[in-house]
Amino acid sequence: MSLDALKKEAAIQAVAQIKNGMIVGLGTGSTAFHAVNAIGDRMKAEGLSIIGVPTSSRTADQARGLGITLASLEDRPSLDLAIDGADEIELSTLNLIKGAGGALLQEKLVEVSAARLIIIADETKKVDKLGARFAIPVEVVRFGWKSTFGRLEALGCQPTLRLRADGEPFVTDEQHFLLDCQFGLIDDAARLADAIKGITGVIEHGLFIGMTSQAIVATSSGIENLFPPA
Ligand code: A5P
Repeated sequence: MSLDALKKEAAIQAVAQIKNGMIVGLGTGSTAFHAVNAIGDRMKAEGLSIIGVPTSSRTADQARGLGITLASLEDRPSLDLAIDGADEIELSTLNLIKGAGGALLQEKLVEVSAARLIIIADETKKVDKLGARFAIPVEVVRFGWKSTFGRLEALGCQPTLRLRADGEPFVTDEQHFLLDCQFGLIDDAARLADAIKGITGVIEHGLFIGMTSQAIVATSSGIENLFPPA
């Protein structure tokens, strides 16, 4: 099975948990893309009716195209469920690194407002310790970003300003820059999350601590349902 087929399989399993009338956070990225399509499929096949709260302009466009009713987080501040992908899932905690797709701020705002967060992924996203493969994306205000860069560097990482394909800085939906901060393997992600958040100029970071209710990981030998430690 291709990685994309695994992502789709995990997405379908998560979307099967959606019930009629739910307010659902719609994630961003290549895995969440399949979840949004699967919601569209259930709407067509069974008349499923939900309200979606998108986590990016990209996802909003996709959902609108499928006829999914959308609301903003201001209109629907409490969600029943959110479904999203992740860049890394730490197996012992289900803490995450997210934001390779650039949508971490809206994702975190929506997902922290959901009663349950289901993470969907292919098997390559599982790690024993966060930081194994991905840098932590940190969303920073553009004003004075170089001094924020320096303060992040002083925490012991190597930050890189994220660029678009044309070499210009990537600008998030909320009009900020992203600094991808390579810390290497992270021993205490909760402590690091607090330290990053304490830096002036930082808006948010891609460490999602204690937020995952369930991870559905599609592997070549079947679906794994993972739950956080009690
Ligand atoms: C978007 O900003 C990210 O947080 C994505 O949810 C994450 O990068 C996973 O994306 P893929 O499903 O494309 O791997």
